[in-house]
Amino acid sequence: IKDIKVKILTAEDLDVSKFYRYPDSHKGDYGKVGIVAGSKYYPGAAVLCSNAALQSGCGLCYLITPQETLYFQSLRKPEIIVLPVESKEGVISFDGFVKFKEYFAKLDVLGFGCGLTRDSEVEKILIHILENFQIPIVIDADGLNVLASSQKAKNLLASYKSQKVLTPHYMEAARLLGVDVKDVAKNPIDAATKIAREFETICVLKGSRTIITDGDEVFINVFGNPGMAKGGSGDVLTGIILSMIAQGYSAFEAAKISVYLHSLSADILLEKKTMQTILPSDIIEGLDSAIRRLI
Ligand code: APR
Ligand code: MG
Repeated sequence: IKDIKVKILTAEDLDVSKFYRYPDSHKGDYGKVGIVAGSKYYPGAAVLCSNAALQSGCGLCYLITPQETLYFQSLRKPEIIVLPVESKEGVISFDGFVKFKEYFAKLDVLGFGCGLTRDSEVEKILIHILENFQIPIVIDADGLNVLASSQKAKNLLASYKSQKVLTPHYMEAARLLGVDVKDVAKNPIDAATKIAREFETICVLKGSRTIITDGDEVFINVFGNPGMAKGGSGDVLTGIILSMIAQGYSAFEAAKISVYLHSLSADILLEKKTMQTILPSDIIEGLDSAIRRLI
């Protein structure tokens, strides 16, 4: 693809103005995040994503998750408001989901996908959201799997009017584009740009060098380390992006800041820990040092 501007992501590319918290502000000023995540099989994904959102500064965080996962959630921050949805064999159910619809009107941003599984109920819910909602949305993991397998969902996403962020890793990007993962690896900038243009979305193509693009400008992240190569790191990133959008950043700005903070946190952890021992949940705790260093 020609005519794309490619740049290494640095702190200078980030607008940190929204990190200032006014003395007379209240939680409504920092936004409400909603997260549809988790299943009996992947309850931890919902915990990581919602903890990361909360720990990144949003005012309120709602977790919409199958009721069956609640047993697992002792690691969930108590500040997270859980909307327990009826499930079908451990997977979130469409009928249960729509019962909470009065909550969705007040959200500032919705996250969809972490740990939901590939069940057909998940597809029904995402299609319902894309047909009926009008809020910024971040789609990850099993949300991306729905898009890859449903032309209807793809079309709805392309015409969805609010801000969008897709956060595929290389395999998820390959499935979205209908190409081999080797083609994505050969030219990740092209792959990310194609996704951004096809769906009129911000694309965060995750890897050891994550690419962030709006289809026109491309930023390459050079921070982070292989200690992040563990299940759950991606769920943490999704939570951070959601929180930044809730706090008033555009989808593109939110994606840039979040990728930066996520990998900076993991790099700072190496001052005291090793690539073997750092965990995605440590990346959440480490956001403290990362934010301090950025602002
Ligand atoms: N260097 C720097 N960053 C890295 C490295 C590395 N070597 N390896 C991984 N990362 C970062 C990526 O940039 C990304 O932000 O860790 C994160 C990994 O995200 P995902 O690939 O989404 O992995 P994961 O958290 O396991 O996803 C959870 O969702 O996408 C599905 O199939 C996936 O079941 C899995 C689940
Ligand atoms: Mg993932």
